[in-house]
Amino acid sequence: MTTQSLRGKVVFVAGGAKNLGGLISRTVARHGARVAVHYNSDSTEAAAKETVAACEQVGGEAFALQADLTKVPEIRRVFDTVVDRYGSLYASVNTAGLAIGHVMTDVTEEEFDRHFAINAKGAFFVMAEAAKRMEDHGKIITFVSSLLAAYTGRYSVYAGSKAPVEHFTRALSKELFDRHISVNNIAPGPMDTPFFWNAAAPGEADFSKSMSNTGDLTKIEDIAPWVEFLLTGGSFANGQTLFVNGGFSTR
Ligand SMILES: NC(=O)c1ccc[n+]([C@@H]2O[C@H](COP(=O)([O-])OP(=O)(O)OC[C@H]3O[C@@H](n4cnc5c(N)ncnc54)[C@H](OP(=O)(O)O)[C@@H]3O)[C@@H](O)[C@H]2O)c1
Repeated sequence: MTTQSLRGKVVFVAGGAKNLGGLISRTVARHGARVAVHYNSDSTEAAAKETVAACEQVGGEAFALQADLTKVPEIRRVFDTVVDRYGSLYASVNTAGLAIGHVMTDVTEEEFDRHFAINAKGAFFVMAEAAKRMEDHGKIITFVSSLLAAYTGRYSVYAGSKAPVEHFTRALSKELFDRHISVNNIAPGPMDTPFFWNAAAPGEADFSKSMSNTGDLTKIEDIAPWVEFLLTGGSFANGQTLFVNGGFSTR
């Protein structure tokens, strides 16, 4: 296995301001990476600024940029900005996503479209636009969900809109063989962030904890090392979805 240093490498982190994405930004910055910290909502701008400062404090370079990644021109603008600023692109790590926990008969057309817009369409075009600008031996990682290996109600529109990403990842990874770019997904278990708590049903957290070998929810700290590994040495994993969830679900 060859090891790749991240010093000076350019890493784009979609949703990189807070929660899982925030930790990933700080983690790659600690390796000396140059980090493009993406955020979406105005309410996340302050977190993005804090994450940029934290990245600089641990030895990386960073800047924040806002975009709604459901819009292809915005995705193109974001990657053009990153390449204009830093001159290259080594990795794209996409943590952007939305979830609701509604039974299928309650899901509205607007909710369906909103979830597919970011979880499927946004993921597709972030991967594609990253690939167009990425250096050889680069890395593309997209976050999906351990629900892709679960048998459950309430998450039809969430898990259903993440599921196509596995096919995007298979196809793109194969298409990029000659450029040695590895393309993978990471599927965390139910993870202790507001994203989980906003969608969870009463009692769901206790059930989820009972399904993991830690007796706890997935923590962002359980996941970031897998990103670190894929970016620095794990390029023989390609086209895969890595279920990182303490055994919550398997496939
Ligand atoms: N927490 C869990 O239980 C869990 C479990 C498995 C997988 N995951 C996945 O892990 C990833 C990170 O989740 P997290 O728990 O760290 O929650 P999070 O911080 O809420 O991450 C979701 C991110 O998606 C961004 N986003 C939403 N709509 C967007 C849009 N239209 N354009 C661009 N960005 C948009 C949000 O940005 P703004 O807030 O700025 O709008 C936010 O940064 C997600 O993809 C999620 O599906 C989470």
